[in-house]
Amino acid sequence: MGTRVKPETLALMKQRGESIAMLTCYDHPTAVFQDAAGVDVIFVGDSVGVNVLGYKSPQQVTMNDMLHHTRAVRRGVVSALLMADLPYRSYETPEQALENARQLVSAGTEVVKLEGGRNIMPQVEALVAEGIPVVGHVGYTPQTRTGKRPVFGDRAEEALDVLYDADALASAGALAVVLECVPERVAEVVTRRLSMPTIGIGAGRVCDGQVLVAHDMLGVYKSHYRFVKTYTDLKRVMHQAFAAYVADIKAHRFPEDRHRFKIKSAELRRFRAQIDE
Ligand code: KIV
Repeated sequence: MGTRVKPETLALMKQRGESIAMLTCYDHPTAVFQDAAGVDVIFVGDSVGVNVLGYKSPQQVTMNDMLHHTRAVRRGVVSALLMADLPYRSYETPEQALENARQLVSAGTEVVKLEGGRNIMPQVEALVAEGIPVVGHVGYTPQTRTGKRPVFGDRAEEALDVLYDADALASAGALAVVLECVPERVAEVVTRRLSMPTIGIGAGRVCDGQVLVAHDMLGVYKSHYRFVKTYTDLKRVMHQAFAAYVADIKAHRFPEDRHRFKIKSAELRRFRAQIDE
């Protein structure tokens, strides 16, 4: 078991120049494997909707979805810091943010993440005042940005928005910020100017940490995002296993002798005697 990662560990890691490794996670076995592999932050993202629930958009994800998956992941995490997303429209006011964040904390998360910057400062302040650690999310924000352009911050005005939003989150007491699909040079400026850690996804090499969607890096879906590195081809591995199973069943190759339960002859005779009557 590794050293327990706490909310305050993230700032220490930035000070030490130690990169933060974060991955999305939606279920118990994945949480166990990620924790054992040394992932620092295990994150129940609202990308659960598109990646495992079959939704078309993150906007369909409900608080109940997030609570259900957060509980499952909680049961598998020992050392990592557990973080969960507040889903779309669950934090429109500070009161609503507080009510829903409390539920996520009861489900086992240690940190809540919400999308936005200057526009959600009252929500972040309310959560922090209540002792709930918060991570913000700026740049490309999937809950509200549905446009085709995959990058945010490649125009000077947008780059300023990224910086000012991240800065506002830090002033409101957030402990870190996710920068999504931001040009590397912009992410670099934000990372250098803030004492709060930045965690990039499609934000280049200079952030204080990195996050990927586990399903993308495992190759469950063919990712078309240039920022994804695929570490294995789980789609192929799963397809091969399922097809081999079907072939075994059709050919009566499974179950085999070693997969059977047995009954003693005497018990079988007694059983037969009773039904033969
Ligand atoms: O829900 C999610 O997977 C996210 C990542 C893109 C950081 O917010």
